[in-house]
Amino acid sequence: MFDEIRFNRIDNLPKYVFAEINELKAKLKAQGKNVIDFSMGNPDKDTPKHIVDELCKTAYKPGNHGYSPSQGIPEVLDAITWWYNDRYGVVLDPKTQAVATIGSKDGYSHLAYAITNPGDTAVVPTPTYPIHSYSFILAGGFVEDLKLKFDHNYNVDEDHFFDELNHIFDKAHVKPKYILVNFPHNPTSATVTLEFYERLVALAKERRFYIISDIAYGDISFGGYTTPSIMEVAGATDVAVESFTVSKSYNMAGWRIGFFVGNKKLINALIKLKSWLDYGMFAPIQKATVEALTGDQTCVNIITARYNHRQDLLIHEYAKIGWIIRKNKASMFSWAKLPKEIAYMGSLEFCKKILDEEHVAFSPGVGFGDDGEGFVRIALIQDDETIKLSAKKIQKFIQKYTK
Ligand SMILES: Cc1ncc(COP(=O)(O)O)c(C=O)c1O
Repeated sequence: MFDEIRFNRIDNLPKYVFAEINELKAKLKAQGKNVIDFSMGNPDKDTPKHIVDELCKTAYKPGNHGYSPSQGIPEVLDAITWWYNDRYGVVLDPKTQAVATIGSKDGYSHLAYAITNPGDTAVVPTPTYPIHSYSFILAGGFVEDLKLKFDHNYNVDEDHFFDELNHIFDKAHVKPKYILVNFPHNPTSATVTLEFYERLVALAKERRFYIISDIAYGDISFGGYTTPSIMEVAGATDVAVESFTVSKSYNMAGWRIGFFVGNKKLINALIKLKSWLDYGMFAPIQKATVEALTGDQTCVNIITARYNHRQDLLIHEYAKIGWIIRKNKASMFSWAKLPKEIAYMGSLEFCKKILDEEHVAFSPGVGFGDDGEGFVRIALIQDDETIKLSAKKIQKFIQKYTK
């Protein structure tokens, strides 16, 4: 019925590549199959007890059950800016330079919606976490891809990045208004130096564009590497905002809380839009987030060490079956070239087939755009025994399909 009635925004969205994997996963689970799931950046462990305790304590207290300010309660805004000062030595004003969002993914879609005029262009490095580009597209903007190059140790080739970015500006009729950067990068785990942000802030001032930086995996780094924040650059708040989330390094993915800080004009645009759209998050969730950000940080070290250990184990176990994966310095993912014997399948076919036949789920690289083809993203969310078991299943699959 009503076939002539179209929903352009939705009808023009391509099928979400991961939806195919998710549907198959759901079907197998419904059949009672035990799926080894490496497909989502969804931490497998529970939220640390002191954070859950704070939620329970504040949920039982009277006066915490009504609507709360959509920007975030004052305590959480203070905790966010305290966290930035503690981690990065940066001073931010909680009232005008911080906003809590219902997860940072939600924040991305609403930030883009707030600041994109029809036809605006944003530069987004590829491959990309889909919402980073689709937030602009859904808001009526365009996206200019910037293909990332990085070395065997997943260090971004920063000179190449700036050559490409300058090239995009030189050839553009309408200059891009935004660039979105995300390091440690999803899906590749690639990292940058603080100097990268210094160059980016200087270029943004020269070429007149805003920077949106996502450091969702900022806490999860290994081997002496620490993730820089763009906020560490003097004058960054003139041109940049940055987001972080408690989902990853505090195992709080289901709680749905993240935040943005930085440039007052962009933060204010998001605060204003949110004041129309939402009534804020449940106050006890925000109070528990205060506990996460300002309380004992031992849990972050434990969570980070676990991802480091799992990455080493996975690299070791998969190397035994001939699948060579290099070690990265940050994030909760491995970004792995398809095993050469089955590379002919392409990433989506490989992921669908190995899920269907061996019940092992990966994210196909092509789901992060064409530049992700030839790779899979492996989320390090399985325990040691399961990682070892997955290697056996992959070996069986490769043997079956080697031509
Ligand atoms: C790079 C990046 N940013 C943001 C998010 C969203 O995190 P959340 O909405 O849970 O805060 C994710 C989730 O996977 C991510 O990988």
